[in-house]
Amino acid sequence: MKIFMIFALITVLSFGLFAEEQSSTQKGTKNMDAILLVTFGTSDPEAKKAFVNIEKLARAKFPVYEIRWAYTSEMIRRNLAKKGEILLSPEEALLKLKEDGFKNVYAQSLHIIPGEEFHQVVATVVKFKKDFDKLIISPPLLNSMADVKKSVKLMLSKVPTERKKEDAVLFMGHGSGKHPSDMIYVAAAYEIEKSDGNAFLATVEGNPTLDDVLAGLKGKKVRKAYLLPFMSVAGDHAKNDMAGSEPDSWKSILAKNGIESAPVMKGMAEYDEIVEIWLEHLEKTIKGL
Ligand code: CO
Repeated sequence: MKIFMIFALITVLSFGLFAEEQSSTQKGTKNMDAILLVTFGTSDPEAKKAFVNIEKLARAKFPVYEIRWAYTSEMIRRNLAKKGEILLSPEEALLKLKEDGFKNVYAQSLHIIPGEEFHQVVATVVKFKKDFDKLIISPPLLNSMADVKKSVKLMLSKVPTERKKEDAVLFMGHGSGKHPSDMIYVAAAYEIEKSDGNAFLATVEGNPTLDDVLAGLKGKKVRKAYLLPFMSVAGDHAKNDMAGSEPDSWKSILAKNGIESAPVMKGMAEYDEIVEIWLEHLEKTIKGL
């Protein structure tokens, strides 16, 4: 009886091992579906942790997909290449995916708004469509008013808890002055102010401007403002234009207006719940919804 049980145990164990071996072989067989994460990019190694976080969460949510990156900013790719770090443009990344035999590719835009950069990626995708069974572009973070509301609510929840009620919160969006999608920042600013009377959003290169917001800050006699990037990474703009010491930085301009700054150097993509919005877009795109 005992011998039989041991035999049975060995059978179960060896079957278990075999099963594991089989599944690892299956894992080894190449899946021909890929996700291409497309971002503006950053040359700031510190800011890059936001991308590491996106990749970690994307791998967890889509384990069977090949995951690759593309940077839309030529300037950033050039700067990184000088340091020996080769990043591909969306075009180069799609060529490589084609060469490597991938059949279905889902390009996820990690941009904030469907602006200039996003539409360039759309044009590239259209160009490469014939090279794949399926090549689909998935929308950026703020692609509907629902996305705006969700993101604003999340970002307001990330304001440091030591903030007092009379302290202001000022988000720095990128802005895209010449693109119609710039209006999405105006919509986000509206949602922010509606949710919290002392919270505002202004942009570096679009609307609303810092001037638009300054009047409100002064009218409310604000003495201290928490500054948060409304951008995927806390990169160049956050470091220099938001929290830098140059006379034209927001910190300096606010100081001139009697407002002390408390910068929070964390990009939106460092918050898992924000990344989840991008990944929900991707999931819908993959499912064809
Ligand atoms: Co910029």
